[in-house]
Amino acid sequence: MLARATAATPWGIEARPVQVEVDVHNGLPQVQIVGLADVAVRESRERVRAAIKNCGFDLEPKSIIINLAPADLRKEGNHLDLAIALAMLAAYEQIPQEALDGRLISGELGLDGAVRSVRGGLAIADLGYRLGSREVLLPAPNAAEAAALEAVPVIGLRGLAEAVQHLIGADPLLPVPAPPFSGHGFGSVPDLAEVRGQETAKRALEVAAAGGHNLLFLGPPGSGKTMLARRLPGVLPPLTLAESIAVTKIHSLVAEEPPAGLLQQRPFRSPHTGTSTAGMIGGGSNPRPGEASLAHNGVLFLDELPEFRRDTLEALRQPLEEGTVSVVRARARLQFPARFSLLAAMNPCPCGHLGDPRYSCRCPPPLVERYRGRVSGPLLDRIDLHVEVPAVSLKELRSSAGESTETVARRVAAARSLQLDRFGLGTPTPNNAAMGPEQLRRFCAVDPAGRALLDRAFERLGLSARALDRVLKVARTIADLAGSDAIRAAHLAEAIQYRSLDRRVVG
Ligand SMILES: Nc1ncnc2c1ncn2[C@@H]1O[C@H](COP(=O)(O)OP(=O)(O)OP(=O)(O)O)[C@@H](O)[C@H]1O
Ligand SMILES: [Mg+2]
Repeated sequence: MLARATAATPWGIEARPVQVEVDVHNGLPQVQIVGLADVAVRESRERVRAAIKNCGFDLEPKSIIINLAPADLRKEGNHLDLAIALAMLAAYEQIPQEALDGRLISGELGLDGAVRSVRGGLAIADLGYRLGSREVLLPAPNAAEAAALEAVPVIGLRGLAEAVQHLIGADPLLPVPAPPFSGHGFGSVPDLAEVRGQETAKRALEVAAAGGHNLLFLGPPGSGKTMLARRLPGVLPPLTLAESIAVTKIHSLVAEEPPAGLLQQRPFRSPHTGTSTAGMIGGGSNPRPGEASLAHNGVLFLDELPEFRRDTLEALRQPLEEGTVSVVRARARLQFPARFSLLAAMNPCPCGHLGDPRYSCRCPPPLVERYRGRVSGPLLDRIDLHVEVPAVSLKELRSSAGESTETVARRVAAARSLQLDRFGLGTPTPNNAAMGPEQLRRFCAVDPAGRALLDRAFERLGLSARALDRVLKVARTIADLAGSDAIRAAHLAEAIQYRSLDRRVVG
């Protein structure tokens, strides 16, 4: 008899449907898998056979053909085991075909019949929703992230026997409830008030957080660059539900353990300086998202920027401009979302003291040039705010605490909520930094005085056209922080000031 079940296989950060057809007929006892399957899928045959036997089903040996369709879609990993086992049981008439109809099934099987977790549970639930499935059957550890979508009933399974009992109605399971979501989940982040002085840098951190802009800190050792960066997660605006779903889908693909629900906090990734290009932007034979995608809707922090490999930094140019990464894989091009704010920190020279009034820098000029040359002009051009973080004075160190993380976070959240109203919930433009040319025209109009200010800056600072657009977006954020509908001259002047380091940084 022929039986069918619908399963899912990962494809980028999404999942694609796979029709599992099992045909059982009399003949030479054997099991054959046809359809483009990788090694893990082919090994499924053995796992499924053992799992079925260990769940107490005694199936007569027959000739079994397992067909995985579409044939041209490469199936990867262990996602298909459970659907293959259930379709086989239906083909042996142990469960009715109707029990499988309209259900999306994914899970790996252990030899003892246990259902083990798979990667990308949330994407599978999303596929179930798009297919109009009446139910999605997943391993119990994946059920919480999948249920968080609240779009389709999700059943969490621990074993094959449990799945059968559920499907034949002998012991039906209830859908898993959606875990709570707040979007405010930052844990114990150190407080901004601990950083003394550095008012310009703190202000820039606030502007970058509010609009999702890229920021570079430049300064001598020990001035507080890393300290400031580590306090950014507490200031970032809360995640919206749509943003969290997008972020969780990506993280669920690489996590060792499936997430316990939606991510509650914007990602803050700080990869090591030795990170390879594949590690940074994603890749591999079964492509996985890299740091740039793991930082999607959050922050990618590159401390000691010139220490990163040049090719790794250059590879960030595409996501910084387009908000996505494309990875080529076996005749197909996969897109991973990668819309992050870049936060970078560096010293002005190898010894770190160039321009520091209290130390004299001994770096020979060619060495300084080479050090700075590791960070290319095009990369710097994509950084909206360039901020000098000078050495702190003793007086500043002894000064009383400044504004707390909570106070700054409140202003940032208010400015981000203005942006959500402007662009609409669930939009692909979640913040000012992500505005396209049409939105730039609509939302960043400046009066003639402002235009004159911009023109002067363009000439004086030798800005690129891209830099000019970015100045406008930053000015939009500064106006939002001030609660102003119009972009005024003061907002533009502040945005321009964050570009004034350009020449010295580029050298
Ligand atoms: N502005 C500051 N206020 C209070 N403490 C500070 C400040 N700047 C630095 N410190 C102290 O110095 C330590 C080192 O600072 P931090 O690591 O942020 O320096 P950095 O600018 O990143 O230096 P490097 O260029 O060497 O990486 C901090 O952990 C903190 O104890
Ligand atoms: Mg540092």
